[in-house]
This record gives sequence, structure tokens and C-alpha cells, in this order.
Amino acid sequence: MKGPAPLALKVNGATHVVSACPDTPLLYLLRNDLALNGPKFGCGLGECGACTVLLDGMPTRACVTTAKVALGHEITTLEGLGTRAALHPVQQAFIEEQAAQCGYCLSGMIMTTKALLERDPHPSIETIQRELSRNLCRCGTHVEIVRAVQLAAELLAQQKPAQDPAHKGACA
Ligand code: FES
Ligand code: FES
Repeated sequence: MKGPAPLALKVNGATHVVSACPDTPLLYLLRNDLALNGPKFGCGLGECGACTVLLDGMPTRACVTTAKVALGHEITTLEGLGTRAALHPVQQAFIEEQAAQCGYCLSGMIMTTKALLERDPHPSIETIQRELSRNLCRCGTHVEIVRAVQLAAELLAQQKPAQDPAHKGACA
């Protein structure tokens, strides 16, 4: 059986080398080795979504994703989105809509929402409900969470003209 080895993980734009067995769950390395506690341990079985991170932009359950699978991919956790001083619009929206009670599910909800809005900037309520249906919230804040996703879509749409190079070109 192979023992620990140096593994280079690309997390939130930086490369981190950890010593671990390649089959270690990514979630353990993020939380225990890199002190990134945004992703949470819920079920540990890929069922609840509390541990969701993005792997090359795709929502991924870090509790059932091994380190070796994550190697070579861009990993994004909640900490990679915004800061307290400069929140990402999805984080801002979840705060404004007060879409939390205990907050345990929120990192996974926010990461799943970020990926959804990149694929579909103006999702219908049905799409939001479907896309978040595998992220469980035991506190039952689903109504506020759906509203937060809608607000996040609005905030991102407001930001878009300033970030769109084509738009800037048209104004020059
Ligand atoms: S802790 Fe990963 S899906 Fe529940
Ligand atoms: S706010 Fe508590 S689990 Fe969702």
C-alpha cells in the first residue's frame, strides 16, 4: 500500500503542496491541511452537498473526491470567491436575503449557485430549485435561498457591463 506523498493542489489561484495518500478525500486536505473551512463535512457520502467546491468550475463533492482526482484541476472553495471587505455578489445576495439559519449548508449552496449562474445567468425558479435540489438544508431556508439566487443573478447582471470588454470597446 502506498504511503503519503507530496501532492500539489491548485486551490483558489495558488499551488499548495500537501503530504497525503492519493486516495485521501479532498475535503480532508482542504479543511485539515489548508485550513479552508468553508466546505463542511456533512454526510461524507456525497449526499448532502455541504462539502461542495468547484473543480474547473464544476460543482464537486469534496468528501467523495480523492486528492488524486483533484490533481491538475483548479479547485475553488468559498474562500476563493470574495473577502469580508469585497464580497462576491453571490455571497452578498445570500446575506441580503438572510438565507441562513445555522449556515452549515451555505458554502455548498453558494458554490453551486456560482456555477449555475455562470452556465445560466438568468435561471427560472424551476431551474434554481432543480439545480439546488441535491444541496440539503435541514433548517428549511429554501424560500430565502431561492430568493438569494435570484438576487445574485441581478447583482451579477448589474456588474456585467463594466466587466465586458466588448462593452468597453463600444464606449471608447
Ligand atoms: S459532506 Fe459531502 S456531500 Fe455531504
Ligand atoms: S441554514 Fe442550516 S442547514 Fe441550511
